[in-house]
Amino acid sequence: MGYDARHGWTPLMAIIEIDSLRVEFPAGRGVRVAVNDVSLAVEHGETMAIVGESGSGKSVLALSMMAMVPGAGRITGGSVRYEGTDLLAADTRTLRRIRGGHIAVIFQEPMKSLNPVLSIGRQLTDPIRFHRAVGKAEALRIAASSLAEVGFTQPLETVRQFPHQLSGGMRQRVMIAMAVSCGAKLIIADEPTTALDVITQREVLNLLASLTRKREMALVMISHDLGVVARYADRVSVMYAGKIVESASARDLYRSPRHPYTRGLLGSALRADTESRQLNPIMGSPPDLLALPAGCAFAPRCPVVLPRCQDQVPELVSATPDGGAWPVACWRDAELSLGARHPVSGGAT
Ligand SMILES: Nc1ncnc2c1ncn2[C@@H]1O[C@H](COP(=O)(O)OP(=O)(O)OP(=O)(O)O)[C@@H](O)[C@H]1O
Ligand SMILES: [Mg+2]
Repeated sequence: MGYDARHGWTPLMAIIEIDSLRVEFPAGRGVRVAVNDVSLAVEHGETMAIVGESGSGKSVLALSMMAMVPGAGRITGGSVRYEGTDLLAADTRTLRRIRGGHIAVIFQEPMKSLNPVLSIGRQLTDPIRFHRAVGKAEALRIAASSLAEVGFTQPLETVRQFPHQLSGGMRQRVMIAMAVSCGAKLIIADEPTTALDVITQREVLNLLASLTRKREMALVMISHDLGVVARYADRVSVMYAGKIVESASARDLYRSPRHPYTRGLLGSALRADTESRQLNPIMGSPPDLLALPAGCAFAPRCPVVLPRCQDQVPELVSATPDGGAWPVACWRDAELSLGARHPVSGGAT
């Protein structure tokens, strides 16, 4: 039980809790394992970043948080709980109520979520009326005030506009307004700013961060760029080939990255910030998910690989004998953590 002034004594429960999740895509006679035994929990009000290279399973994991899988994908194991409700066993009615009303998703390209032939007002008020059971006039009032909250100065004009009349950044603001206006408690933002210029990107991320903080919403922020999420996340989970290989508070992760892959990612991210730091880009490319190596999936690219890494998969373990306090999936963690502030010796350059 936990106590807070607004809710009194309540059971301490993560807003979303994923346990041993596995998502597969059929591929010829085999399967591609896009999400491979992933467990993670996001707390109420927390911002969790999920980072990893293209194809590492971030989007599939994000969608599965709403019990959705793209294309011919199938969830073949594990569980997803939203405030204790098992979403993989939930009926359609419960899922419709939770999607949008409790969990909102913002994608990279808002035009895919917005209907080009409906006004912004209509696209906001329909879900508001569905999720909040209010009439037309009240829905319009909520829509306008949400648009104002995300930075539209003349919301009553904006509701009459159509998506193509807005810039990319403004469309993302509309998506954020939609999440807020329906009362979502968790926003999943899947590379929401990748398609925007750097200044707009920062504005949209700042808006997401300040709104979620103000409204005590949880935020799952997905990015392939560790540098971008650095300033926003409370915690960061690093994905590689469908698995989480390290999960830590943002502060710990940036100060003392432990997994060789995380160190490599930070090496690449630092490149844009300062040229003086030692560069440590990751050589090679991620494995084919159809034919994963027998051991650690990162082994073929790892600068500190040992024979053991090639035939046994390292588990994500929370503590190492040297006192490492956060989960890392690396056979060499205990010895490497001792020099965590320094680049991995023998690192690829
Ligand atoms: N619709 C689909 N059909 C078949 N396979 C898919 C589909 N979507 C994803 N996959 C498989 O799942 C893997 C993970 O895809 P996912 O989209 O989650 O990657 P990602 O980390 O989001 O990458 P990106 O940074 O490019 O968005 C892919 O490598 C691919 O093998
Ligand atoms: Mg993706």
